[in-house]
Amino acid sequence: MTQIVTLITGASAGLGADFARQCAAQGERLVLVARRRNELEALATELGTARALVMDLGESGAAAAVMADVAANGETVGTLINNAGFGLWGKFVALDGPRQRAMIDLNIGTLVELCHAVLPGMLERGSGAILNVASTAAFQPGPGMATYFATKAFVLSFTEALHEEVASKGIKVTALCPGPTKTEFGEVAGFTANGAFDKISAKSEDVVAMGLKALDAGRAVAIPGLVNKAGAQGHRLLPRWLLRKVTASIKN
Ligand SMILES: NC(=O)c1ccc[n+]([C@@H]2O[C@H](COP(=O)([O-])OP(=O)(O)OC[C@H]3O[C@@H](n4cnc5c(N)ncnc54)[C@H](OP(=O)(O)O)[C@@H]3O)[C@@H](O)[C@H]2O)c1
Repeated sequence: MTQIVTLITGASAGLGADFARQCAAQGERLVLVARRRNELEALATELGTARALVMDLGESGAAAAVMADVAANGETVGTLINNAGFGLWGKFVALDGPRQRAMIDLNIGTLVELCHAVLPGMLERGSGAILNVASTAAFQPGPGMATYFATKAFVLSFTEALHEEVASKGIKVTALCPGPTKTEFGEVAGFTANGAFDKISAKSEDVVAMGLKALDAGRAVAIPGLVNKAGAQGHRLLPRWLLRKVTASIKN
């Protein structure tokens, strides 16, 4: 008899840690994945129904290693929360090339591989849920964060397509598209310290609660917050050439 678990990537901080807290509060058993052992193990201990799996999900073969570990522990993934990700602020050419490639590997590569690994079992059981964390960055090109915005456009498009492919089979697939949210994201991305990002940031726990509610309701796309919802409609109001110029003018 296998144990049904919720697998949460990037659970050592920010949105991922709040996903863990809120899923644990719903009585789910959790597998928490990230690189920082201390943070992950402390959270697993705090929650009681979770275990930590320390892994760099940006490395080749990481998804297969996660799935092997899950199987070895007699677990089956009932819900997958693909949350691990990071951004880099700066002009494409000035940012480190290998770091941008690592971003693509994590934000896209491992996310896709994990979906591919868990879906056959979900289809067999006729149930399951996948929440992929995209961003409002998914809705337009992002000069100043070109690679990051493009990874999130991929995640949104991919997730919507997956939603359609499996919705009739009892499997829920949702793209959560947060706007600025108070986590470690800005620090990792290298935002300057003028506080603009922080001032407009939502609370992580509110974004997570909205995302889990949307997943439960079987929605394809969830955008927390009225301003973010309106912003995501920008492409209806502005031609794409103007939209990218507006994004380029936004300074952190
Ligand atoms: N905060 C925002 O404004 C915002 C807005 C829209 C979308 N998002 C998206 O939300 C998701 C969560 O970000 P966050 O805001 O919560 O940022 P965060 O506080 O920096 O958390 C990122 C999480 O991802 C993990 N992670 C990073 N690289 C990893 C790797 N190579 N292998 C395994 N885990 C890794 C980190 O853990 P370790 O460092 O321990 O590995 C951490 O747990 C991301 O996909 C991000 O793009 C954030």
